[in-house]
Amino acid sequence: MSEQPFLTDIKTLRERARRHIEQGAVTEGYKADRETVIRLLNEALATEIVCTLRYKRHYYMAEGLSASVAAQEFLEHAQQEQQHADWLAERIVQLGGAPNFSPEGLSTRSHAEYVEGEDLKDMVKENLIAERIAIDSYREIATFLGDKDPTTRRIMEDILAQEEEHADDMAAILEAI
Ligand SMILES: [Fe+2]
Ligand SMILES: [Fe+2]
Repeated sequence: MSEQPFLTDIKTLRERARRHIEQGAVTEGYKADRETVIRLLNEALATEIVCTLRYKRHYYMAEGLSASVAAQEFLEHAQQEQQHADWLAERIVQLGGAPNFSPEGLSTRSHAEYVEGEDLKDMVKENLIAERIAIDSYREIATFLGDKDPTTRRIMEDILAQEEEHADDMAAILEAI
């Protein structure tokens, strides 16, 4: 008895790749529900934009308070959140979707909140909370994707790892204040 081959045979692979070439990176072997993945990525994108804005606000406010260590961390995080937003937008387009950058409804689409904070300690605390929200929601998205869309899962895991660093940074600053 011949065993079931693990990989799709080359002839089938080649034939499948020729069909629907207008779908670019999305092949017939794509296993996830594309609509759902694009919606989740747009929610993550909104989260990243809100986080970028919050860190920017905190950066300028902390600078005014001469809190240079915290301000530098806020700035660095703002830049990384911006980078995350770009990775997400790029992936949405690859999947045939459209990235939602509309300010309309942005804070509702976002998982994390935009809280300005009264003082430095408050700002750090709000950032820590936002990071913890992002960590849980991104972990859930990565788990949901499983092996159905490994590329999107890897992107979510890369972002997740940085959010965990961000949370760790904020926790350390909070302790030092
Ligand atoms: Fe981020
Ligand atoms: Fe973050």
